[in-house]
Amino acid sequence: MSPTIQERPDLDQIPVAKRPATSPPPRPQTWILKVIMATTGSIFILFLLFHLAGNLKVYLPDDPQGHFNEYAHWLRTLLNPLVPGSTFLWAFRAVMVLALCLHVYSGLTLWIRAHRLRGRHARKVHSTKHHLTGRTMLWSGLIILSFIIFHLLDLTIGRAVESKEFSTKATYTLHDGTVVTDAYSNLIHSFERAPVAIFYVVVMIVIAFHLSHGIWSIINDFGGTAHRTRMVFLFLADLIALIVVIGNASIPLAVLAGGLTL
Ligand code: HEM
Repeated sequence: MSPTIQERPDLDQIPVAKRPATSPPPRPQTWILKVIMATTGSIFILFLLFHLAGNLKVYLPDDPQGHFNEYAHWLRTLLNPLVPGSTFLWAFRAVMVLALCLHVYSGLTLWIRAHRLRGRHARKVHSTKHHLTGRTMLWSGLIILSFIIFHLLDLTIGRAVESKEFSTKATYTLHDGTVVTDAYSNLIHSFERAPVAIFYVVVMIVIAFHLSHGIWSIINDFGGTAHRTRMVFLFLADLIALIVVIGNASIPLAVLAGGLTL
């Protein structure tokens, strides 16, 4: 049996600050991983709100196809002629891929560490919403990652879904005569497939839970401890999650219901 502190007078001689730690802190340190999670998470929240604003152009009453395709084209040619062609879009994609890799790596590392520390003495599950979403962050994160891969294959790269009437090579001519990708008709054709539309809706709900808990964690990690601040941010977390889920999920549902057509 190892001696207790009382049986080891030598330990008393060493100042607390100089006592050897039982094990060195893990690398990268947990606080660094948490800052990475909070920073990359904030980037994704901004992206989701921006992406939602673009997606909602499908509801513009007058020529939604034109507006939506114009917006998709604007995105590809942003900052022209300052930077040539789609340079901005590719730079933006590079930042998103880097942020995604860092987010997934930090999230997995934190999850593994928490599980090791908790060991066999895990606390009983609390039934509050935040404990439930907190415990499912890894799984909701993995579902979202699979969704992003499908989504890119579906609407950006198009390989998973090429067919006679649905091809990412389909083009559309804007009012000024520029020929662009017909992102709008790709979207409509994609959501006309009921399983795909339902998959999108389910994933949007998963994203809402992930977002709501993620924003709550960001507030904690950036030190938001005052009661009032927490209440305001908790409300904002749920509000943003709700806006993203309702705004995005309404689109596949509207196509399925026949409210959005070509
Ligand atoms: C129902 C909801 C959604 C709809 C209707 C939708 C629609 C689209 C469309 C049409 C494109 C292709 C645009 C183009 O070709 O220019 C696109 C690209 C993309 N979407 Fe979504 N999206 C939805 C939800 C999401 C969500 C929840 C995420 C993230 C978790 C996401 C991430 C992306 C990304 C990363 C791209 C690629 C941007 C690029 O690099 O060009 N989307 N989306």
